[in-house]
Amino acid sequence: MVEAGFGALGGVPAAEFWDARYAGAPQIWSGEPNVALVRLAGGLAPGRALDLGCGEGGDAVWLAQRGWQVTGVDVSEVALGRAAALAVAAGVDGRVVWRRLDLGVEFPVGVFELVSAQFLHSEVELPRVRILRAAASAVVVGGTLLVAGHAMGPAGHGGAGADHADHGHPEVELPSAAEVLASLELAEGGWEVVACEEFERSARWPDGSVGMRRDNVVAVRRLGADERLPDSPGVGLG
Ligand SMILES: C[S@@+](CC[C@H](N)C(=O)[O-])C[C@H]1O[C@@H](n2cnc3c(N)ncnc32)[C@H](O)[C@@H]1O
Repeated sequence: MVEAGFGALGGVPAAEFWDARYAGAPQIWSGEPNVALVRLAGGLAPGRALDLGCGEGGDAVWLAQRGWQVTGVDVSEVALGRAAALAVAAGVDGRVVWRRLDLGVEFPVGVFELVSAQFLHSEVELPRVRILRAAASAVVVGGTLLVAGHAMGPAGHGGAGADHADHGHPEVELPSAAEVLASLELAEGGWEVVACEEFERSARWPDGSVGMRRDNVVAVRRLGADERLPDSPGVGLG
């Protein structure tokens, strides 16, 4: 199976691909927070949050509005410029740090009460499993790792990016929630599984029609020290 997030356009650098994609439209995403984030992080006490592949900043700004100190990371300078403007408009720019970084090469230093990866998929090479394992290692004891992604659907509908008008990449196989959870290789007994499920939400399809699409979400809470994981992954994904 092709790893989700590892797309067909393997030779194109991630920054080049995503900057061009964002530059192709004044706004790509809704600016609203993702439903899985709202549902599963809405009740958490604010602390330090890391948003991986933060895009135009909808999630990061929502978290900042709820008192989180947020680090938003993305490979696209264009997206980060929009995210920064959104934070200023929302009056929370003091609570968010934006970092341009290729997560395939480098992972942010630090530990967090919440690490969120929402639809961290890409048509160009992206070692998603490796990144998500590093994400788990950046969660403090008592903290939460939240991973949402597209679920496989019938041909043409429901696959990665199927609701992103110019963004269909049906060739990418997408793991189920259970596969995402297993791929993290979390230490037994070290984590509580808060959610591991598929869910439906309404979406706008490329032809403008509105329908339902399937996504999946994994949320795990770190219970104690995981011997396999350092307290901070630091730079370099190896
Ligand atoms: C499908 S978008 C999701 C954006 C946002 N999380 C959301 O839910 O609206 C994937 C995001 O991951 C970013 N991304 C892709 N490859 C990346 C990489 N290697 N390092 C950092 N960010 C990357 C893209 O620039 C894009 O903003």
